[in-house]
Amino acid sequence: MKIGSQQHRDTFCRHFLQTYTAYDPRTLPWPELDAAALERLKSVPFWEEVFYTERRAGAIVKAFTETVSDPVLREAIELQGFEEARHAELIRVMIEKYGIDAAERPLEDVSDNVETRFKDFGFGECMDSFLGFGVFKIAMQSQFLPKEMFTIFETLMYEETRHIVFFVNWMAYVQARKGLVARALLPLTSFRYYMRALGRLIGTARRGAELNDGKEFSATQASVFLDGFTFRRFLEDCYSENRRRMDSFDADLLRPSFLPQLAETALGAMRLWSFRTKPLPA
Ligand SMILES: [Fe+2]
Ligand SMILES: [Fe+2]
Repeated sequence: MKIGSQQHRDTFCRHFLQTYTAYDPRTLPWPELDAAALERLKSVPFWEEVFYTERRAGAIVKAFTETVSDPVLREAIELQGFEEARHAELIRVMIEKYGIDAAERPLEDVSDNVETRFKDFGFGECMDSFLGFGVFKIAMQSQFLPKEMFTIFETLMYEETRHIVFFVNWMAYVQARKGLVARALLPLTSFRYYMRALGRLIGTARRGAELNDGKEFSATQASVFLDGFTFRRFLEDCYSENRRRMDSFDADLLRPSFLPQLAETALGAMRLWSFRTKPLPA
C-alpha cells in the first residue's frame, strides 16, 4: 500500500472508525473501594493534570476538525475529538465518585495555529502513551488498585493506542501528499516535534513537582508502586507493552517507531554495559 494514496487514507480511517467502543463513563462498573485502595487512588499526584490534559485534548481536536475539508479524514478526526472529550468526562466522573482533590483549571485558548497544535498534541500523545504503557503495567502488577479499576482504564489505554496509530498514519499521509521532499523530511520533522513534546513533558513534571510540594505521593504509597523499580525495568516494560499493544493492529498500518527504536537502542546498550561490567567467573 502506497503511503499517501487514497487506499492508505481509507484504510487508516476505516480502521479507526471500526475499532470504536461505545460506552458512557457514568454507567461503567466503577468498583467500591476499601479505605486503603481509596487512599492510594487519592494519593496519585497527577489527576488534576490528567483531567486538564484530556479537556484540552478534546478542545484541540475539535478545533482542528473544523479546518479539515476531506470528509473521510474529517469523520475520523471528529470521532477522536469525541473520544478525548469522553476521556475528560471519565476522569470527571472518577474525581466526583471518589472525592479526589483535583481542581478544574480554566482551559487555555486553543483557537490559533490549530494544525500545529494538533501535531504537537499528536506527538505528545505518542510520547505520553509510550511511557504510560510502562506505568500502567507496573501499577497493575503491583495491584496498586483493584483490577476492576484497571479494566476501566484499559479502555482508555486502548483508545490512546488507536489515537497514536491514527496520528502517525495521518502525519505520513499529509506529508506524502505535500510531495517527495516533505515525505523524505518526515523523520526530521518528527524528531523536532518529539523534542518539543519532551520539553513540554519536562515542564509539566516540574510544575507538578512544585504543585505537589508538601502533599507529595507519600513514601508508603510510592513504595507500593516503586518496589523493585529500576529505570531499565521501566524501559523494558514500556518497550514490551508497546509491542504487545501494537501487535493487535492491522499490519497494513504504520505505527509509532521513534520511541520504540530509541528504547531498543538504549536497552541494547544497557545489556552490553551490564555484560561488560560483570566480573568474569573465576
Ligand atoms: Fe485522551
Ligand atoms: Fe488520545
